[in-house]
Amino acid sequence: MRPLVFAANWKMHVGPPEAREYLRAFFAAGEIPHERAVWFFPPAVSLEAVAQNVAGHRNVVAGAQDIYWEAKGAFTGAISAPLAAQAGARMTLIGHSERRHVFGETDEQTGEKLAAALAANLQPVLCVGETLAQREAGETTAVVTRQLVAAFAGHSGKRHVTIAYEPVWAIGTGRNATPKDAAEVHRAIRGWLKGNAPAVVPFVILYGGSVNLKNAAELLAEHELDGVLVGGASLDPRGWAQLVRTAVA
Ligand code: 13P
Repeated sequence: MRPLVFAANWKMHVGPPEAREYLRAFFAAGEIPHERAVWFFPPAVSLEAVAQNVAGHRNVVAGAQDIYWEAKGAFTGAISAPLAAQAGARMTLIGHSERRHVFGETDEQTGEKLAAALAANLQPVLCVGETLAQREAGETTAVVTRQLVAAFAGHSGKRHVTIAYEPVWAIGTGRNATPKDAAEVHRAIRGWLKGNAPAVVPFVILYGGSVNLKNAAELLAEHELDGVLVGGASLDPRGWAQLVRTAVA
């Protein structure tokens, strides 16, 4: 069986007591299968509760949903990579489409954040993806490449970076990319990384956007997908416990 990553992005849901209760219910289903990894991205206030409650469970880690690029200082409301690490984060999402499209984060800022994550030993999970208008205009590869170029500008060291391909039109809409569509973009990302960031190993590339119990098996049967990044369908602990056990052909 090939190794697969199941990443849960809780977005602005699940406070600390709810997180403890969630994990109790999630682990009641048993330890996760050997070759699978589960990454939880809770809101910052719940990070420590999640990190503490996944400790000791094999292949399960906590990560931040976002970080600020400065390490410390007068930046009210922001959370730096070292602070997230102190709370128990081992990784962090960078450039999630909601950061880009709701909060106006730029490509350049994702580059700053990627550098800050690496400096603090947080594994970055860089999110890329096109809008519906961009897809319909045939600009998908160009947009994703532009996002990769900006994020990786100036990084040549040997690093573990995960990429999450999350087409904006598929997030929270119930309309997932087909396995074939996702695979095509994953191949383009892999090709770009091989040519332009060969020291970034390994290339784990996740797909995100309306993944659920109904479509996970079909998506994961596509070998270009090394796992999934899931929003809505990760909020119910029992459903998520089932999803991470999806039988994959
Ligand atoms: P949904 O699974 O709710 O579509 O969200 C996807 C996502 O944005 C994960 O980061």
